[in-house]
Amino acid sequence: MIQEDTGTSEILTRSEAAAFIRVSEKTLGEMARTRRIPSQKVGREWRFLRSALEDWLVGKGVRDDNRLIETTGHEQPATAEAFVQYALPISDFRDTAFSENHERTLHRWTPWIAGFSGSFVAGVLEGVRRERHRLRVLDPFAGVGTTLIEALKYECDATGFEINPYAALACKTKAQAAHYDADILAATLDRFEEYGEEKLSLDERAMSLPPQGFSSRVPFFSPKVERQVLACQDFIAQETTDWVTDLFQVAFGAVMVSFSNYSYEPSLGTRAGAGKPNIDHADVFSIVKRKLREMHEDIVTFQGWMRKHKRMPQATVYPLSYLDHAQRVRPNSIDVLITSPPYLNNYHYVRNTRPHLFWLGMVHTTSDLKTIEHKSFGQFWQTVRSGPEIALRPHLPHLGEQLQDLRARHAEKGTYGGRGWANYAATYFNDCQLFCALTRTRMRPGGKVVVVIGNNILQGLEFQTDKLFAEIAEQEGFEIVALHEVRKKRTGNSIVNSSVRNGTVTQRTRLYETAVELRAP
Ligand SMILES: C[S@@+](CC[C@H](N)C(=O)[O-])C[C@H]1O[C@@H](n2cnc3c(N)ncnc32)[C@H](O)[C@@H]1O
Repeated sequence: MIQEDTGTSEILTRSEAAAFIRVSEKTLGEMARTRRIPSQKVGREWRFLRSALEDWLVGKGVRDDNRLIETTGHEQPATAEAFVQYALPISDFRDTAFSENHERTLHRWTPWIAGFSGSFVAGVLEGVRRERHRLRVLDPFAGVGTTLIEALKYECDATGFEINPYAALACKTKAQAAHYDADILAATLDRFEEYGEEKLSLDERAMSLPPQGFSSRVPFFSPKVERQVLACQDFIAQETTDWVTDLFQVAFGAVMVSFSNYSYEPSLGTRAGAGKPNIDHADVFSIVKRKLREMHEDIVTFQGWMRKHKRMPQATVYPLSYLDHAQRVRPNSIDVLITSPPYLNNYHYVRNTRPHLFWLGMVHTTSDLKTIEHKSFGQFWQTVRSGPEIALRPHLPHLGEQLQDLRARHAEKGTYGGRGWANYAATYFNDCQLFCALTRTRMRPGGKVVVVIGNNILQGLEFQTDKLFAEIAEQEGFEIVALHEVRKKRTGNSIVNSSVRNGTVTQRTRLYETAVELRAP
């Protein structure tokens, strides 16, 4: 069990749970009542499982706005019938906040900085469904699969590309959830439980070893935790059914940071750095098992929904860069594209999943990570800051001037000043252009494209990335239908070198999120 400074009991009262997650009792009570936090009513009192709160916090920790909660008003459907009601059109463009995904079937498996929620995607699909019956949906930056899952629920065929192997695995396992044998999974979970009890009581040395190429500033797991992690990995390694192995890997990946000496704030850093104690003891088997039980429950629910369809929709996930492999999608075949690319905020998906990638055996060396970084949309400031000036390819004179302004800022800092950031921004907008050019050829004429994207601040300069993206899309032949401001406020603590940090402007710039709606030519 995880040791924390609010005592050691696994079951917490409202006041203990409020202290644990550092909110007022009133706020916590409200969250429990509106089912936005894992909780149970016992008589007239609320009770909270410490480990469930830990899991929930891990999910919350990787969001890019760092707000505790977000009300969307769209609750998770518990049954197929409820799903039908939920699917009734509310509005095409709903709140994009990912937080609601933490409690929803399949979406809740893996936290990810997502750009949007399941109900946002559902709203878009609901709007299109009236136009055409069977749809082909594409998400070129699929993350952990929000678009794909919603597409399947709406009986659409779905295709996704995702460059991060851990996210791609999560996306694939969810997208294939209709095809698993839930009984086999349940039986494997029982064996996992017995295995854990036996292994730990025998005090045997595990066969698995920590990943060789992985280094961390402090030991990633404390010794007692690591022993259990390796025993858990022994179990996974001996599994012979591929989809079962995948589910175990996803479950392990989803919870591994919660029993490590690291946390998300929202980037990966040591717990000590965040003022939290290290985790010396944790019941790893129970935590992984609980995650898997949740996944099992969701698989059963999802299969119930899928059985209502006349035809089982197909899902394909490519663990590849869309920019290099878009041609795998048939030309003129996509009816709807719903996506959220990485933002121009240098949020480092690759670095933030280093532990997952190494401990799940998806990368072995730092150069494996570099390969992913260089193929990522927009790359990262770290990968492009040095070297010669990167020229802007889209013909947007006002953006060109802004980049010159950026380039001139903090010249004394060399590549760490405006020069490096201008290279990053130019790479980003060049990739926006490449994305639009590729996408144009994959969309059916008149197809709908919805790209959720936010504005950003680099070295004190605001980039209205949504408007710039729309202009680039228009130059590539798309018609701009509308720019919907789907979130009015996004507090960007992952924004690097913001105006606030540089003190170049006195007023804080409002960060927002826009759904750019386009029509394919
Ligand atoms: C904002 S996230 C999208 C998350 C997604 N909407 C979800 O619900 O999980 C952007 C994703 O793009 C992925 N990505 C970056 N470059 C890519 C590329 N060239 N091809 C495919 N995916 C890429 C990142 O790994 C990240 O998961």
